[in-house]
Amino acid sequence: MAHEQVWQRDVDLPVIMDKGMTVDKKSFYVTTPIYYVNDVPHIGHSYTTIAADTLARYKRMRGYDVFFLTGTDEHGQKIEKAAQTNNEKPIELADRMVETFKGLWKVLDISNDDFIRTTEDRHVKQIENVFEKMYENGDIYLGEYEGWYCIPCESFWTSSQLSSGNCPECGRSVEKIKEENYFFRLSKYQDLLLEYFEKHPDFIKPESRRNELHRRIVGGIDDISVSRATVEWGVRVPMNKKHTIYVWVDALFNYITALGYYEDSEKLKRYWPANVHLIGKEILWFHGVVWPAMLMSLGIEVPCQIYAHGWWTLEGQKISKSLGNAIDPVKITETYGIDTYRYFLLREVPFGLDGNFSYDALVNRINCDLGNDLGNLLHRTLTMVEKYSDGIVPEAESLSMEGKELVDGSEKLNEEVELAMSDLQFSKALEAIWDYIGLVNKYVEISKPWVLAKESSMKNKLNEVLYNLVESIRIISLFILPIMPNIAAEIQKQLGLSSDGKSINNRIIWGGTRPGTKVCKGQPVFPRVEYSKAS
Ligand code: ME8
Ligand code: MG
Repeated sequence: MAHEQVWQRDVDLPVIMDKGMTVDKKSFYVTTPIYYVNDVPHIGHSYTTIAADTLARYKRMRGYDVFFLTGTDEHGQKIEKAAQTNNEKPIELADRMVETFKGLWKVLDISNDDFIRTTEDRHVKQIENVFEKMYENGDIYLGEYEGWYCIPCESFWTSSQLSSGNCPECGRSVEKIKEENYFFRLSKYQDLLLEYFEKHPDFIKPESRRNELHRRIVGGIDDISVSRATVEWGVRVPMNKKHTIYVWVDALFNYITALGYYEDSEKLKRYWPANVHLIGKEILWFHGVVWPAMLMSLGIEVPCQIYAHGWWTLEGQKISKSLGNAIDPVKITETYGIDTYRYFLLREVPFGLDGNFSYDALVNRINCDLGNDLGNLLHRTLTMVEKYSDGIVPEAESLSMEGKELVDGSEKLNEEVELAMSDLQFSKALEAIWDYIGLVNKYVEISKPWVLAKESSMKNKLNEVLYNLVESIRIISLFILPIMPNIAAEIQKQLGLSSDGKSINNRIIWGGTRPGTKVCKGQPVFPRVEYSKAS
């Protein structure tokens, strides 16, 4: 299948090297939320994971030592209930669903370095330990909770927080609970959290969400329940086996248990603190307040950044099981392609904002941005190299003014992409790449190789134009690689380039294509698609 992993990690990963840059192995740790296994993944889950994958691939290309983690959140009342409804054991449900998630990540070419399940021994043991340690610190105490609980969100709410009697987060009904709980002294960390926020202006992104969360902390934070007396499916509280540890505490720690926190592992030293936790906006409270406070309690460094992206709707509607509109991303990719789907999600909506998925918009982007702008550029370039140069990339003996614009443009592009990617602005990086593609398309029109080909005295000029076109497309293929790894490899193949990561063909410096290279034109890389509902 076309979606075989193209670049084997650590073996022949392409490293974009800037002028004179030597590869400095700085580490980079990126995570996705660990997803609940009560239900199958949909567009929303695939979005966060594709964004994380793109970032991981990009950083690897820039020479970073990357660790990219995803996984599944398998304990708690929500899973317990879903399993009951299905007449199966929670672990049976989890085992089944994990395969669905892993299968989807394989289809989408997700290059995660590890996959953590919260039911794994390596995780459970460490959760017991951290809970005990926070108890010994005096940050966990026994008390009584009386209030509301939303099972789908696994969240505790007070009466005043409810919205028309329902969960303020998802709008569904809540249940009243009154039980003995262990509490975490979150209130104690108010000042430390505020200080951390002030000292690290980029801790929470985007800024509007950071400010909202900051205001909430200023307004005062209460201690939170961290155990359940009536939920069976979870990690037992070590000093009181009647309780299970609250699923959110269990889940958040995956980010360090996967590195082997309690083994004081090499990985932990190498990758912690995480550079960025990618999450959806609805779980920012847990990541931006509860998580850092617990880390502070344990004397562990707080992650550098939490990026809370927006929410997707589907043809204008909330995506949910009850609405029955949660389409399987695998189905979409079967009809519209894998890399094209990845491209669409990251191009359509600025990272951080809400967005709407529609088939019209998807089809439009595939046919226009991808097919017309990039696909045609490749196709006509290769056709001209075949026709005017026997399929061999000629040598450019000079560099004209217009050619120089392409060279300068590629350098500017390198900087713009880096700037956009350092702020996770995937759509901006793509806009910059597409501006460059526009420049190259304009270059074809201005230089008119078909006219030059008619005059033998214009041979040198023609050679230069053909070389510049191939070289620009080679550079474009490198910049789209983190988002469209298969397409990038296919373009390189058609350009006749070696896919050996150590070869100069993977460098960003102008001139990487060797004259004499034989091109290898194939099928259009972006066949036209028509609208047809995938389901
Ligand atoms: O919250 N649009 O898991 P979850 C964009 N287990 N992103 C979406 C989305 C949408 N419509 N729907 C889901 C949990 N997501 C916890 C996390 S982490 C320690 C524990 C994405 O299965 C987005 O990343 O409900 C969101 O935060 C996540 O899926 C929620 O997945
Ligand atoms: Mg959720």
